[in-house]
Amino acid sequence: MPLHGLASVTIGVPDVEVTRAYYSDFGLTSQAGGWLSTTDGGSQLRLVRRSRRQLVELAIRASEPDDLDRIAGRLARLGVRADRGEPDAVAALEPVTGTRVVVRILPPLVSRPTPAPAYNGPGRILRSSRRAEPVTRSAAVRPRRLGHAVIGTTDLAVSKAFFVDGLGFRVSDYISDRGAFLRCSGDHHNVLILAAPVSFLHHTSWEVDDIDEIGRGATTMLEDHPERHVWGLGRHHAGANFFWYLRDPAGNFSEYFSDMDCNLDDQLWSPEVFQGREGLYSWGPPPPPSFLHPDDLADLMIGSHSSA
Ligand SMILES: [Fe+2]
Repeated sequence: MPLHGLASVTIGVPDVEVTRAYYSDFGLTSQAGGWLSTTDGGSQLRLVRRSRRQLVELAIRASEPDDLDRIAGRLARLGVRADRGEPDAVAALEPVTGTRVVVRILPPLVSRPTPAPAYNGPGRILRSSRRAEPVTRSAAVRPRRLGHAVIGTTDLAVSKAFFVDGLGFRVSDYISDRGAFLRCSGDHHNVLILAAPVSFLHHTSWEVDDIDEIGRGATTMLEDHPERHVWGLGRHHAGANFFWYLRDPAGNFSEYFSDMDCNLDDQLWSPEVFQGREGLYSWGPPPPPSFLHPDDLADLMIGSHSSA
């Protein structure tokens, strides 16, 4: 695949400093210029001031200059203007949400391999005469990289055409006729688009080493701030990743994830259409209503109408 994952997200929030403190607690490292970094992906989150929360920019990694030409051509056929102002990038506004999407030539993100935890099971003792390594961990949880972003769109078909027909994303699975999991790397999804009454950023998702890092990270985040909890711990059906969702001060959800399905051969993956619970999760506590319909959705709708 010419594309190879997300490079970064830029999120607009009313209070940059308060939100930056949240993402520092989440395990990202503050950098200059409003950026925060992951351990493997470098600068992957930028916070900028906006009157209401929104996904301002999504940056995607590409391999070759030819890929940019092909993307510009495909976007033109969709009637979307492609900006070639930077020599190593092509940028366009996603037609429904107005998010600036920039595809940039960047080297592949290479993660240092994580040793598989030694889990004991019936008839399978992989760890004896010693304590489980995860319970002895004391280092702060640090997300390894940005995995995906989930976007609410008021026109699913147009947003899907932009990412799939324009940029070259592949469809991994569907949630009935209300959502599409899209990938631009081996990850099951790098972008999920959801039908919504207003365009908004639902969540960004950040990979950690394993399920224990999800639990440890969320436990630390909630210690003095129980109001940050949204939904977790659980395992999704589509993508299969373990998850725990938390809420930043602006209202965006941020997810710790691990163990996502990986599709390295497009020929071997068949998209499915999931209905009901399978579209949401395999196991975990029931999702709170505010996960599907964030509490500020009505305010965002009023804001979008008044700024339109
Ligand atoms: Fe997610």
